[in-house]
Amino acid sequence: MLARAKVYLVGAGPGDPDLLTVKALRLLQLADVIFYDRLVSAEILALANPRATLIDSGKELGQQQETQERIYAGLLAEAHSGRVILRLKSGDPMIFGRGGEELAFLASHGIAAEVVPGVSSALAAPGLAGVPLTYRGVAASFAVVAGHRQSVAELDWSVYGAIDTLVILMGVEFRDVIAGSLVRAGRPGDQPVLFISNASTGNEVQVESTLGAVARGVTRVAAPAVMVIGEVVRLRRESGVAAMVGAAV
Ligand SMILES: C[S@@+](CC[C@H](N)C(=O)[O-])C[C@H]1O[C@@H](n2cnc3c(N)ncnc32)[C@H](O)[C@@H]1O
Repeated sequence: MLARAKVYLVGAGPGDPDLLTVKALRLLQLADVIFYDRLVSAEILALANPRATLIDSGKELGQQQETQERIYAGLLAEAHSGRVILRLKSGDPMIFGRGGEELAFLASHGIAAEVVPGVSSALAAPGLAGVPLTYRGVAASFAVVAGHRQSVAELDWSVYGAIDTLVILMGVEFRDVIAGSLVRAGRPGDQPVLFISNASTGNEVQVESTLGAVARGVTRVAAPAVMVIGEVVRLRRESGVAAMVGAAV
């Protein structure tokens, strides 16, 4: 009898294994096959069932489509095996992770899927840095925006001039273009910007700057990073978290 095909689409959080959900950890320990993305940390993979087959499904720049086709073929090949199949993505699987496309692909092949939400870097990175995305009297709205080449070319950045807090993912390469577009859209040049690289890992680095300085190309940042733009960044100093960075919990 053909086993009922099912794939778990699981969020691995930003990197720190302590930020996995209980359900994600339980599935990792049960999994027979894990297709994992490039940003899933080694510490998290180390928690997987030792007998699981781990399949590196990271996408190299310029080969995204080929890799995606390979992932689809692999999922199809494994899904009917009756084994526990995980598609493990960094952060939350439904935020800039092609989670929606993969769900649609599985559905079109009659394969059941279950989404296990994860802690997105869009929320975790500012939170860990002591930056609230909303704050009474300072910020009542936030938006999470893609900052990669295609977004920079296609998005109407004037829309984002009026949103209190902006969280940009995949924006390191084009940070100067993004900052310049936002200043032209009406955001002040002295508005603070915080980059949080490798959030929640031992390599985390925080760099604070301003929109004007980022637009001038003088702010050095390592990828992957979350770029937080808005007056809320000033609250980081008051939160006390900045002073505690590096302190053991
Ligand atoms: C393809 S997107 C995936 C986002 C993911 N689904 C999420 O919810 O966090 C990759 C981008 O997420 C951000 N990112 C993911 N993990 C990160 C981390 N630990 N520290 C900083 N940025 C991270 C970076 O902006 C990176 O370029």
